[in-house]
Amino acid sequence: STKKLWGGRFTAESAQWIDTFGASISFDQLMAHEDLEGSLAHVKMLKYTKILSESDADQIIAGLKELQHDLDEGQLTFSVKNEDIHMNLESILTEKIGPVAGKLHTARSRNDQVATDLHLYLKHRLPEVIASLLQLQKTIVQKAEENIFTIMPGYTHLQHAQPISYGHYLMAYYQMFKRDIERFTFNQEHTDLSPLGAAALAGTTFPIDRQFTANELGFKDIYANSLDAVSDRDFVLEFLSNASILMMHLSRFCEEIILWCSYEFNYIELSDEYSTGSSIMPQKKNPDMAELIRGKSGRVFGHLLGLLTTLKGLSLAYNKDLQEDKEGLFDTIKTIVPSLKVFTGMLSSLKVNEKKMAHATEHDFSNATELADYLANKGIPFRQAHAIVGELVLKGTQEGFNLQDIPLSEYKKISPLIDKDVYEDLTSKTAIDRRHSAGSTGFNEVAKQVKNAKQELNF
Ligand code: ARG
Repeated sequence: STKKLWGGRFTAESAQWIDTFGASISFDQLMAHEDLEGSLAHVKMLKYTKILSESDADQIIAGLKELQHDLDEGQLTFSVKNEDIHMNLESILTEKIGPVAGKLHTARSRNDQVATDLHLYLKHRLPEVIASLLQLQKTIVQKAEENIFTIMPGYTHLQHAQPISYGHYLMAYYQMFKRDIERFTFNQEHTDLSPLGAAALAGTTFPIDRQFTANELGFKDIYANSLDAVSDRDFVLEFLSNASILMMHLSRFCEEIILWCSYEFNYIELSDEYSTGSSIMPQKKNPDMAELIRGKSGRVFGHLLGLLTTLKGLSLAYNKDLQEDKEGLFDTIKTIVPSLKVFTGMLSSLKVNEKKMAHATEHDFSNATELADYLANKGIPFRQAHAIVGELVLKGTQEGFNLQDIPLSEYKKISPLIDKDVYEDLTSKTAIDRRHSAGSTGFNEVAKQVKNAKQELNF
């Protein structure tokens, strides 16, 4: 036998590189707290079911609690010799309390152990993700409320389309983040299941009580099938997928911020706290944080695709490939929470250049639909109205006038039904104000959206 924890049937030590290549301790030590928590629940169950004697169990419990304390104090050191966090902690426990530590692994495998740790790890961190999203939503709603009457060009194809309220624009993102929260909340359900007790793959002959450990660990329920329990990483995939969609939302939002604080747009200005300068060009004020969040979406998408690919051809149940499930998850959590926090601060502190935004809607023919609608309301078939206005736009772009500059006498030639109230309809403000369809950019509709959101968020 060799020195390894599993060395009984081995006569030779591992080849060079094998320990380091096979080890996960460099990253799975992030789950040390969860591993101790899982072990404590397990040994308490072994005591409760009398699988272990009281005195053995109590020694192990005391030892694990000491380890928890040492971990908090930063006094534990791990080694690749012991491969992963599970065997590292077990070997430290053995150093502390002697051979009785070997009884901890009764009726358990590293396969259900690692699955339990990973469930706990994500379960503990999802609330912060959701809380950060709620904080962002709150900031969006506050900003939207201040900007219900701020007029900006609405775009399709990045071409001026129709004027909209900036508050309306912001509330679009509120809805996206609302769906993100719903997705993470659903993800919580799948994370809230205990794999512990599935053992290696087939369950165990020991009279364990899986509900007991599930309760100890605060899981809502247990996995119904032991093979599924040790092989399932859907809950991680779901998280990575939700995180990818969230980052995609943030990235779109960032793209607009980056464009809009450029010299050409100049719709917004980032606060000094959330922008950076150049080491050579003294005039620069760069939207680095928005770019970084946009850039970080790439690594999160990568983690999703990475794990999907890892899982794709895996036969049941545990395969070492599954060790590759962790780093992407850890990195994603480490990426999205700060991205949300930085984005929220950046958004709440940016200044809106209302004049520039509104001005951009005034000489861009974005009131063309209003004129077509006006004509349609006077009985001209909409298709024909569309053609008439199209010709006016062509003439206007060639000769340098806007629709609101055309004298009434000219309009009368198109239709005697056109009156001077047409000029009112051609202002951006009226274009927005007259929209009453549900969920539209009409000022009243935006105010309703804001009011509903405030009710949803309770503030
Ligand atoms: N470090 C391993 C992992 O992260 C733990 C499970 C090992 N199980 C096994 N049968 N080798 O997946």
